Amino acid sequence: MEMFDWKNLPFGYVKTDYNVRCYYRDGKWGDIEVTSSEHINVHIASTGLHYGQEAFEGLKAYMGKDGKIRLFRWEENAKRLISSAEGIKMATVPVELFREALFKVLDLNRKYVPPYGSGATLYIRPLLYGSGAEVGVKPSSEYTFLIFVTPVGPYFKGGVKPVNMLICRDVDRAAPLGTGTFKVGGNYAASMRAIIKAKEQGYSSNIFLDAREKKYIDECGPANFFGIKNNTYITPKSESILKSITNMSLLEIAESIGMKAERRQVPIEELSTFEEAGACGTAAVISPIAKIFDPDTNMIYEYCRDGEPGPMTMKLYNKLVAIQNGDEPDTFGWISILD
Ligand SMILES: Cc1ncc(COP(=O)(O)O)c(C=O)c1O
Repeated sequence: MEMFDWKNLPFGYVKTDYNVRCYYRDGKWGDIEVTSSEHINVHIASTGLHYGQEAFEGLKAYMGKDGKIRLFRWEENAKRLISSAEGIKMATVPVELFREALFKVLDLNRKYVPPYGSGATLYIRPLLYGSGAEVGVKPSSEYTFLIFVTPVGPYFKGGVKPVNMLICRDVDRAAPLGTGTFKVGGNYAASMRAIIKAKEQGYSSNIFLDAREKKYIDECGPANFFGIKNNTYITPKSESILKSITNMSLLEIAESIGMKAERRQVPIEELSTFEEAGACGTAAVISPIAKIFDPDTNMIYEYCRDGEPGPMTMKLYNKLVAIQNGDEPDTFGWISILD
């Protein structure tokens, strides 16, 4: 009997057997601890709770046809967590400790890696927060690092479907010299008003503009934006967006299949020139964009008039997913296998 109806599993939390934790005290990290508890004991005055000293990561494990469990570019997540920790003055988790905790939690929860072909994956959530007590605004002297995993269903049930996006001018997710490049909880709290407003109006998510001038595209909710025209993959360069590992990979794949690739400012007006557009991130890999609506100008930008994702978008998507699942050789050196 299957443990779950993998294909219909939601993108949500499902309990697994174990999570791993590690504590930073007296200037050093302790040993990795394994637990089955889904709860943490949080100090009432912890800086994580009061001052948002908290950063997280998101990556996935994929089951190959060969029965091997694959991880995609986990070192990039480890490095980004270090950058996030430095950005809000937390103790950093060394890459080696991240690796050890990651491989341990995966090994302990092997049975929750969804089967090949189900479209489901094991989502991995590393979390780091200030766990020591402070009352004034200052960094904690104690930190907790933990990783839990949870199986998630295919992002698009029944195949990749284009989504609609709403341009947002009345909320900024992050300031140009703020914390937008770090994966810290505060950015997500700041984005919620806009994302909920977009969803209430029937959009999949919203598109944030640069906070300084409101002239350039920043991000699509919790995903990076890209547009395609003239055989060129174009993605915004901005001082306030998260450097998506999926996007970094798509830039490389685009070049490898003979496209040009550009990371540069993308003015709003350029939306009307793209042949295809999409949002990219670990959760969906790519969400092709059907339509973008700008409520301030009433402009509608359309990319999938026949309701189908564009051919270049699908080429990039299929290539990246094939590498992640082990269906294509990993010529980029992005995959690690769990022995
Ligand atoms: C704000 C934001 N942008 C972009 C991304 C996509 O990043 P990645 O491709 O590393 O998942 C995410 C998801 O992690 C995100 O939260």
